[in-house]
Amino acid sequence: MKNRYIPITIIVAVLCATALVGYLTPSGEQEVPPRVILDNAGGRVIFTHAAHTEDYGFACVDCHHDGIGQEKFISCGSCHPAAFDETFRAEHQNNFESEDACLRCHYDTPQEELAEDNRPDTEFIPTRADAFHAQCMNCHEDMGAGPYGDDTCYDCHAR
Ligand code: HEC
Ligand code: HEC
Ligand code: HEC
Ligand code: HEC
Ligand code: HEC
Repeated sequence: MKNRYIPITIIVAVLCATALVGYLTPSGEQEVPPRVILDNAGGRVIFTHAAHTEDYGFACVDCHHDGIGQEKFISCGSCHPAAFDETFRAEHQNNFESEDACLRCHYDTPQEELAEDNRPDTEFIPTRADAFHAQCMNCHEDMGAGPYGDDTCYDCHAR
């Protein structure tokens, strides 16, 4: 009679254990930085990250267009370096945890010895400052909001 309950008890125990592990394990969601400080030759920019996501209501992927899943957003500079030079070529592979990220630029999974036809065309990948200026200013201009244009440099940059 009692034995009938054993399978149910086991199932319930397993479900409880699964729920507990799920509750105790970090969800993989990241800390969203409230502010991002961007030091650069034009004067430091303090980007109000939390205001842009919470108050102005943008989705993560409106800016993080890296397309490698929401489990981890990486810095823009990983893909938009100051220049696509020797240093970038030698070191950029270390910026990415997943092979999927390679395919953002390489059409095929890169091998140690890069195939000639697997070299990304950098003409279409903006360098760092261009990427930031374009993303920040284009959105502001499109929305009729925020600073953009020649006379607003110091609305973003510290003097
Ligand atoms: C309005 C544009 C915008 C939106 C919306 C946005 N971010 Fe960001 N985020 C940025 C910029 C710009 C940086 C700075 C990146 C850098 O330093 O290269 C950044 C940095 C980050 C970083 C730090 C990355 C690193 O390692 O340097 C994380 C994590 C992050 N964002 C997560 C999120 C999440 C999660 C959301 C959605 C809730 C989100 N962001 C929404 C623009 C945005
Ligand atoms: C995993 C690599 C990767 C990351 C990370 C990345 N980008 Fe890009 N981005 C690219 C590539 C590749 C292009 C070239 C055009 C295309 O394929 O969309 C591009 C194009 C752009 C463009 C021009 C085209 C467009 O979509 O308007 C802007 C502006 C830009 N990125 C800004 C940013 C900013 C700002 C960040 C950080 C919030 C960022 N990118 C993070 C790879 C990346
Ligand atoms: C933001 C775009 C971008 C991403 C993302 C990217 N690469 Fe590259 N990669 C390049 C460019 C640009 C070059 C230089 C191509 C050339 O020489 O014409 C390059 C070159 C290479 C080379 C040849 C290096 C050399 O010394 O000539 C290898 C190997 C490579 N990438 C592997 C990877 C791997 C592995 C990943 C993912 C973990 C990756 N790349 C992600 C843009 C990218
Ligand atoms: C997807 C659209 C979008 C992008 C991308 C974006 N912004 Fe904004 N930004 C806004 C909106 C909307 C406001 C609110 C403006 C208002 O209320 O007048 C704003 C306001 C601002 C303000 C004034 C208020 C505040 O929160 O500080 C600054 C400065 C600013 N943005 C800087 C930046 C910088 C720097 C970047 C790039 C790293 C950026 N923004 C990218 C949409 C955007
Ligand atoms: C919407 C905010 C915003 C406005 C407005 C703005 N910038 Fe920027 N600027 C940035 C951001 C973000 C960066 C990239 C910071 C980084 O590389 O970490 C940047 C980078 C720069 C750089 C560094 C370039 C490099 O190669 O290192 C210069 C110089 C610059 N801006 C000049 C200007 C000038 C001049 C104006 C006015 C015509 C202006 N900016 C307006 C946000 C802005």
